[in-house]
Amino acid sequence: MTRVTDLYARAQQSLAGGVSASTRLNRALGHPLYFDRSAGCRLWDLDGREYIDLCCSHGAALIGHGDARVIAAVQAALARGAACSYENELHSELAELLCQTIPACERVRFTGSGTEATMHTIRLARAFTGRSKLIKIEGHFHGYHDQVMYSIGTPADQLGDEHAPNKYRGSAGMAPGLDEQLILVPYNRPDLLEQAIREHAHEVAAVICEPIYYNAGCILPTKEFLSVLREQTRAHNVLLIFDEVLCAFRMCAGGAQQYLGVTPDLCTIGKAIGGGFPISAFGGRRDIMETLMPHGNCQHSGTYNGHIVSVAAAIAAVNAYREPGFYEHISALGAKLFPGLNAILKQHGVAGHVQGLGARFGVYFGVPGEVRSYRDAVQHQRATMLTFIAAAIRNGVYFHDYGGGACHHGFCSAMTLSDADVALSRLDRAVGEMVA
Ligand SMILES: Cc1ncc(COP(=O)(O)O)c(C=O)c1O
Repeated sequence: MTRVTDLYARAQQSLAGGVSASTRLNRALGHPLYFDRSAGCRLWDLDGREYIDLCCSHGAALIGHGDARVIAAVQAALARGAACSYENELHSELAELLCQTIPACERVRFTGSGTEATMHTIRLARAFTGRSKLIKIEGHFHGYHDQVMYSIGTPADQLGDEHAPNKYRGSAGMAPGLDEQLILVPYNRPDLLEQAIREHAHEVAAVICEPIYYNAGCILPTKEFLSVLREQTRAHNVLLIFDEVLCAFRMCAGGAQQYLGVTPDLCTIGKAIGGGFPISAFGGRRDIMETLMPHGNCQHSGTYNGHIVSVAAAIAAVNAYREPGFYEHISALGAKLFPGLNAILKQHGVAGHVQGLGARFGVYFGVPGEVRSYRDAVQHQRATMLTFIAAAIRNGVYFHDYGGGACHHGFCSAMTLSDADVALSRLDRAVGEMVA
């Protein structure tokens, strides 16, 4: 037994399932990988083995691990006592930065996690419109609260008709009846989206979506889908919520909404915002945001909201994303890694391909052609993915497994072009082992 497997056995004696979060077990390995330390784009496990990190804290570590600017900001906040649940000037500084950077944001609020951000945004949309239903896109992921944990990870044989996709439950224990609040539409089906908005506008508060669908790897919206999304919601007084927990800062400082040139009414911002520290936000039109207490009647609060250590880290991280050259570097890394991995798969005769944008990407095995929706992504071969990830980890590249499903992987800005070359040569060995 290695220290890693020893620790998993120990963890199972006190932590439920041996993990702090259900998805933290890496199914490609059969246990979580326990990391001792990290720096830049690298991780070291408890046995001292080094990995290039292509999970990057599920996207939270866009700036890399232990960034000096983030650490200095955190240390300065700690030196002031790190008193939480109080306001200071850093909250306004971060709010101003977000309002300057993210097109939809005229006002923002802070939350602890992305799950809380979508939960509060949905309540706000309902409070503002006085309507309760949501149009949700099939497969899109909006966190772990019961309102939205439907139609995520639906098995291929349970999708149902695309005119009325199955409201597959993401967990046991969800209160019955919540699914009645959801109307599901497949991604990139502008005809079905338009029909749903027209039929249900009188009872729908908002359409919520991942504007770039990274939770199934990396799937971009078509022009037609985007234009129905914005024009029909506006025409029918339905709010448009972009869940940018994962997209924000990923390909440009203004996130998917800037990249796509579509401004939603409300948006959530998570993961990368905190430079690896726990903070998320939601924001949008001033008239909607003013519905929040204390001005309005919609509740949003929390002891740890805007925790000062995370706020300080976020200011440092967002300022870094706004630095000239930040996204040129991200693009250069993507331009090396995405075709590089495609070439490796082709050279070894493995039927797989990469779709990526900015600092995140999906790898799809056994899906012919471009993946354009959850229905395409669910055809991807999970067993091949787990074999690939196990081989990558053996060769010093860390991927999270997401159960082998089509999901998002990514790199950080601390990676250099020569680190990307190292990652590719390790992946070349890994894919060679897969077919050996
Ligand atoms: C699009 C999206 N929304 C919400 C969430 C939930 O965020 P958190 O894990 O911070 O609660 C995630 C997390 O992966 C996400 O990708």
